[in-house]
Amino acid sequence: MGSLPLLSWGFAYTLRPVRILVTGGAGFIGSEYVRMLLGAPGGDAARVPAVAPTAVTVLDVLTYSGNLANLAPVAEDPRLRFVQRDICDPAVVDEVVPGHDVIVHFAAESHVDRSIDGAAPFVTTNVLGTQNLLDAALRHGTSRFVHVSTDEVYGSIAEGSWTEDWPLAPNSPYSASKAGSDLLALAYHRTHGMDVVVTRCSNNYGPYQFPEKVVPLFVTNLLDGGTVPLYGDGGNIRDWLHVHDHCRGIALVQEKGRAGEVYHIGGGTELTNLELTGRLIEACGASWDQVVPVADRKGHDRRYSLDISKVSSELGYAPSIDLERGLAQTVQWYRDNRAWWEPLKAGTKPLIAP
Ligand code: NAD
Ligand code: DAU
Repeated sequence: MGSLPLLSWGFAYTLRPVRILVTGGAGFIGSEYVRMLLGAPGGDAARVPAVAPTAVTVLDVLTYSGNLANLAPVAEDPRLRFVQRDICDPAVVDEVVPGHDVIVHFAAESHVDRSIDGAAPFVTTNVLGTQNLLDAALRHGTSRFVHVSTDEVYGSIAEGSWTEDWPLAPNSPYSASKAGSDLLALAYHRTHGMDVVVTRCSNNYGPYQFPEKVVPLFVTNLLDGGTVPLYGDGGNIRDWLHVHDHCRGIALVQEKGRAGEVYHIGGGTELTNLELTGRLIEACGASWDQVVPVADRKGHDRRYSLDISKVSSELGYAPSIDLERGLAQTVQWYRDNRAWWEPLKAGTKPLIAP
């Protein structure tokens, strides 16, 4: 097939036909990636993807956080195929991986508090599932494997920012399992010469985030006039990034990242949880009376901070949505989409897209 020149993000890209396998594509970030790749309606210029896929397969087992409703805006796109299967099943992965040029691997158990309650699914999916996918990609000669990871693999940093060569020192079972998967992915590059790139991102917020993470939990509770549980002294610091900017960064890495390299994707907007809570209260028209201090998370990392100079200088990445605009848009989305989140909070997720 020929290639198609397109003007995107202010410079010319030559789009190649590409078949992409997205694991975890029914989750929060994976579904944004799929909607972006397929050009879901309602976006602005920054939504133009770097890659024009001829086919996108979503491989997702639909755990509690996976939701076909997240793919509703692109459900009719003939390029999209959905496979409801487990990445930990070697037979499944062996059948699904062939025929794809690129794997973008989002599928994971992703919530720190759940990993404190029980680490087993985190090790199974995040470590063994990743190894299973890497083996299949190796066997079938997949051209590129994009492993989506997190800043949490570095632990906690009091001052300054992590660079990509920083030693890994994860503190929670979640981050330890992600660190294990990162090291495996990089080992497959080193050992087998596989084309692997790893991204490590800071805290995402935006539409379609499962209402257990702090932003959607607080927003939905505040909108309902309820209370929100603030852990410890509220002084823990996170760097917030809109999910769409994360996905733009991943698309750049998928397209132009160097094999065997790690790239940070961050927002440059560090807030204490108290500061974040204040912004959410204001955006929701709520009050500080709704904030209830509760016991701290066990092993709670104090601060995350990524140095993003590598991805900026090498690949031209910069976040495009500032926090004020992004939070306002996100709160509005939760106001407008009660039908999406109320069943999730009630524990009655619909099994098919509405
Ligand atoms: P999520 O929990 O919303 O989505 C995870 C998706 O993976 C779900 O659709 C789930 O059904 C699927 N999944 C889980 N186990 C599976 C399995 N065994 N087989 C197939 N599918 C399975 O998570 P998210 O917030 O979208 O995170 C996606 C990725 O991004 C994760 O790898 C996470 O570590 C990473 N990440 C997240 C953030 C963040 O702020 N949320 C930041 C940096 C990196
Ligand atoms: O940094 C990237 C990581 O960000 C991702 O790898 C994880 O998948 C993602 O879940 C997120 O991890 P965090 O633990 O930082 O996110 P969470 O939303 O759970 O918590 C953010 C901060 O808010 C953290 O300091 C704990 C605090 N918190 C969280 C919840 C759920 C509260 O104070 N109260 C809460 O109820």
